[in-house]
Amino acid sequence: MTRPIRLALVADLHCRPETQQQLREGLAPANDEADVLLLGGDLCNMGRAEEGRALQEVLRPIRIPMVAVLGNHDYHSGLVGDLVAMLTDVGVHLLQGSAHVARVNGETVGIVGAKGFCGGYGTYCLTPFGESGIKQFIGETRHDAQAVNEALGALQTDYRVVMFHYAPIRDTLFGEPAELYPFLGSSILAEPVEQHGCDLVVHGHAHHGVEDGETQAGIPVKNVAMPVIKRPYVLHSLERNGKRRKRRR
Ligand SMILES: [Fe+2]
Ligand SMILES: [Fe+2]
Repeated sequence: MTRPIRLALVADLHCRPETQQQLREGLAPANDEADVLLLGGDLCNMGRAEEGRALQEVLRPIRIPMVAVLGNHDYHSGLVGDLVAMLTDVGVHLLQGSAHVARVNGETVGIVGAKGFCGGYGTYCLTPFGESGIKQFIGETRHDAQAVNEALGALQTDYRVVMFHYAPIRDTLFGEPAELYPFLGSSILAEPVEQHGCDLVVHGHAHHGVEDGETQAGIPVKNVAMPVIKRPYVLHSLERNGKRRKRRR
């Protein structure tokens, strides 16, 4: 019998040179405790080059596969291209509407990810109506949702995980001011998850939210922003249960 696949999950490291050592020591045990490390964006604090270099030193000792999406803070200084190169240089698989497949103990886990964007939830979700600015704004959210939809639909792995920076559901925002909700994510991001299904959804960005929620179909969603989980990472096991085995036959 195969053992569960162990994921180490964290987002919102907001790495700075001053926090490099603490983050490095905090993440190091993931080498022994987990099979794959997922990083859910806001990896740097302001997207500065020195923060990217500090992040490289944080991640360099990690020997297990690392899979990441970027967050809004990573974009702030306009150096995303440099940051992507730095992350790639230390072995991070960066997802920008794409997928990475990790093989663990003869099983496969596919991780599909994108940064995502804002727009609000359900009935009150922003629609592409009126001014071009509004259309462009919500178009960004739809673009990432569509990319994830295609990548997730094409994925044929034993397990499937979806990762965004922005929140695809409201549940994990509890504790944030209601006025902020439309800027913390959008239910548009949950559409590919509901359409194709997956084993787990991971996001960050909502520093004052809660860790656990689920989609309307009951798929677990975890907000793993570091200020929420209050530790360097959380562990999540992917394992088959009777229901999943039945569905896969
Ligand atoms: Fe953040
Ligand atoms: Fe963020």
